[in-house]
Amino acid sequence: MSSPSEAELIHMFKGIPFTTRSSPELLKSLDTFDAREDDVLLVSYPKSGTHWLAGVITKLYNTQVTLTSPIEFGDISRLEELNKLSSKRIIPTHLDYDMLPPNFKNKKCKMIYISRNPKDTAVSMYHYYRDNPNLPTVDTWTAFFDLFLKGDVVCGSWFDHFLSWEEHENDKNILFLFYEDMKKDLPKTVKEISLFLGLNVSDNDIQDICKKSSFSEMKSNTEKENSDPSHTVCALTSNRKLIFRKGTVGDWKNYFTPKQNERFEEIFNEKMKLSKR
Ligand code: A3P
Repeated sequence: MSSPSEAELIHMFKGIPFTTRSSPELLKSLDTFDAREDDVLLVSYPKSGTHWLAGVITKLYNTQVTLTSPIEFGDISRLEELNKLSSKRIIPTHLDYDMLPPNFKNKKCKMIYISRNPKDTAVSMYHYYRDNPNLPTVDTWTAFFDLFLKGDVVCGSWFDHFLSWEEHENDKNILFLFYEDMKKDLPKTVKEISLFLGLNVSDNDIQDICKKSSFSEMKSNTEKENSDPSHTVCALTSNRKLIFRKGTVGDWKNYFTPKQNERFEEIFNEKMKLSKR
């Protein structure tokens, strides 16, 4: 059987490439989404550590919470399903700030944005493109590198996504996190998340959560479980086994040529002129 064409896998919505697993009807109706004040949004550009963060957050609660699939995933019937949930909702999304349903903003729902060095994000995404049947084929790292820099990948430009959220970094209801900080000192980040969410978590519990959220622990748990295809925190795949690849900082150095690095830096510096960093 031949692999599906790019047009069968990707469609454009408001200038951003989405997989066809996010239906245009659903994307169009997001503006009317009914948020609840106690919803917590888990926001990321793909491959920034979404599953890791989701694992941590769900372990922090000792009351019933539901980690839903991403708000932009599926067809229009998904909104009804989300509306029906009676428990507190942790909702993942890869949407940029401007596309986020306005109700989340009006109701000042808590939102946690996780970001990662875009060079490592690019390498992680390259592997995801190669392994994930829901994404178009890319033949080489060089080809993918160009697509990533042009923003011609699912969820669009890393720079635009990051900048759209960074503008709101100091909003009281938004917590900004970095993958690299989680790698460096996970207990510190977990504490920060628990304070932000208003949860009282003991130091012992934090240690325990960190142990259970290590890369090796999460990877081996995923390999053991029988994954439910309808449950994913990533709108791009239903196969959690594809997520836990390497889990390191600096893998980009194994892929970027010096020339690519130079080009990346140039574009980074140009695009990030608007950034506070
Ligand atoms: P790599 O491909 O570099 O290994 P997302 O969940 O947003 O799709 O991000 C996936 C990336 O996060 C993958 O990066 C994956 O290995 C990494 N990751 C997932 N769980 C992790 C953990 N517990 N510790 C460190 N990295 C983790």
